Amino acid sequence: MKVLGIETSCDDTGIAVYDSEKGLLINKIYHQKKLYNMYGGVIPELCSREHIRSITILLKKIFQSDSIIQDIDIIAYTAGPGLVGSLLVGATFACSLGFSLDIPVLPINHMEAHLLSPMLECKSIEFPFIGLLVSGKHTEIIAVHALGKYEILGNCLDDAAGEAFDKIAKLLELPYPGGSELSKLACQGIKNHFYFPRPMIKHPGLNFSFSGLKTFTTQVIHESGKNMQEKANIARAFEDAVIDILLIKTKKALKQKRWKNLVIAGGVSANHLLRKEAEKMMEKYFNGQVFYNSLEFCTDNGAMIAYVGFLRHLEAKNPQLDILVNPKWSI
Ligand code: KG4
Ligand code: ZN
Repeated sequence: MKVLGIETSCDDTGIAVYDSEKGLLINKIYHQKKLYNMYGGVIPELCSREHIRSITILLKKIFQSDSIIQDIDIIAYTAGPGLVGSLLVGATFACSLGFSLDIPVLPINHMEAHLLSPMLECKSIEFPFIGLLVSGKHTEIIAVHALGKYEILGNCLDDAAGEAFDKIAKLLELPYPGGSELSKLACQGIKNHFYFPRPMIKHPGLNFSFSGLKTFTTQVIHESGKNMQEKANIARAFEDAVIDILLIKTKKALKQKRWKNLVIAGGVSANHLLRKEAEKMMEKYFNGQVFYNSLEFCTDNGAMIAYVGFLRHLEAKNPQLDILVNPKWSI
């Protein structure tokens, strides 16, 4: 079975084809990030317009160079959560193409796709596992019992981890999106030159809050963030605090469930320190394993949508005319 995956939840246009026997055949992505550098963040209206332009170019490229269009069995598209205009572009393309080819079309939850995407590369991941979902808009700890059986153990009460990374990066005058840039700068920082608070770590439960840390960091930037070394020290203290918070809560979740497998997914899972510290924690306390994607699949992509489309293909409706999107769709 071949599944065409279409991802347009925010500012990346992703198109991919997953084959249930051969694996991932095609994975194309168009990043709009450079466009938003001058604004320091995405502009939703521009995102939708760019998706319309780039989705046509990417689909044409795939279908002109390959005879693959005749072999597609199902189309899977991101139906939420995300920006409504961006979601509508992908959904409209998916449903129209499905109708014209007379094949089933399946709406996919973007966060479920992130969560299960490491299974695309690593077939040895088995249920159950604890999922740490960390992206630009979400910070969640999820007990993943089986496909479709998700128990949300912890959620973010304010800014998501990725959003906090991006906002602090902007204050440090780093280019958008700032997460990976801040992390690069942090490598040059002196450990423990600054020590930043870790909100809610002593709080019972597994929820997160990053807004206090963000405010604290903002104050330090205003007071001390003048030269490059001080900026690097601030980046280092901020990154250390975020990773500590994420892993303290994740450790609690693993203990609570007595599970040995951890999956980290979403854009922030590209963070090398988070990966390294998670590996240490799993080895030291759980004699367990941590799984994450290679870098190209951490941030938004069409491959994860195609793959989860395959996993969920039994639910596909033969070509649907109603274009479904839900900007606030919870996993
Ligand atoms: O999953 P994603 O591509 O989009 C959403 O679904 O939100 O995640 C994007 C987020 C951004 O906030 C970006 O700054 C963050 O992931 N990110 C990182 C790193 N690479 C991307 N954050 C920290 N360290 C990184 N290396
Ligand atoms: Zn995402």
